[in-house]
Amino acid sequence: MKSFINVQDIGPLEKALAEAFEIKNDRYKYQHLGRNKTLMMIFFNNSLRTRLSTQKAAMNLGMNVIVLDVNAGAWKLETERGVIMNGDKSEHLLEAIPVMGCYCDLIGVRSFAGLTDREYDYAETVLNQFIRYSGKPVFAMETATVHPLQAFADLITVEEYKGQGRPKVVLTWAPHCRALPQAVPNSFAQWMNAADVDLVITHPEGYELDPQFVGSARVEYDQRKALEGADFVYAKNWSNPGVTNPADYGKITCEDMSWTIDTEHMSWTNNGKFMHCLPVRRGLIVTDDVIESPNSIVIPEAANREISCSVVLKRMLEA
Ligand code: CP
Repeated sequence: MKSFINVQDIGPLEKALAEAFEIKNDRYKYQHLGRNKTLMMIFFNNSLRTRLSTQKAAMNLGMNVIVLDVNAGAWKLETERGVIMNGDKSEHLLEAIPVMGCYCDLIGVRSFAGLTDREYDYAETVLNQFIRYSGKPVFAMETATVHPLQAFADLITVEEYKGQGRPKVVLTWAPHCRALPQAVPNSFAQWMNAADVDLVITHPEGYELDPQFVGSARVEYDQRKALEGADFVYAKNWSNPGVTNPADYGKITCEDMSWTIDTEHMSWTNNGKFMHCLPVRRGLIVTDDVIESPNSIVIPEAANREISCSVVLKRMLEA
């Protein structure tokens, strides 16, 4: 595997899940694969889970790890071509990327959505520059529009907690005080569409996700109807994707607190499990009693980030 961005990159999901559970049973089984290999993790914004789980997965595989926080200790990087660099940015990404590639065997990139220019964000300019100029396999540690390591961990978690039959999985928008990217819901929808689940997406009108990610999922604007009979409730905020009205891209156009997941919302479900990628803002996305309830599986979900990443790094080391 030369890059890991979309669900197609991992191949058949049954095989990927089998590998995930094999690694979960024996995390150090493939430690020989990473001997004398170096992972470089590059962060353009903050992280707790991705940083720790990716580093742990790499160590499980015997790799050396270098972490670079671009905004803390590195030269400020220019990302645009054709600019006169007479401001505070000392180095261009187009030199920095091949230099980084000299010091490692694999590169993980966490970039970000600017949320002002939809076309620029959805073109994944920064990630694609790493793929093009680093000379090394590159995987997404959340980019402007996707978060595949999270979605793979979410899939592993659904597989572990589902009962008999095809589970009903509901991705629900919830309110937030800051404009957030669409990366997590995009990837969650993409991966659940590829899995054997009944996926329903619910959000206020105007918050339609990009059709390439919605796929064959059912979109239900009535949150209660969507949640009825749900086996899994995946709550997440996202800013307006600008699909129905491009001028709204990246904006908060709904602050309706009735979308917050509380015990009444969970009572409409089939004793559903509560999921969120974390970090989560309590009182906005979810109430304390729901996230602290026995049906909340946010911690095992986060723990599976180590497993999803282990499978991805293993595949890249084997390539
Ligand atoms: N879920 C997730 O990616 O968390 P971090 O932003 O802390 O890495």
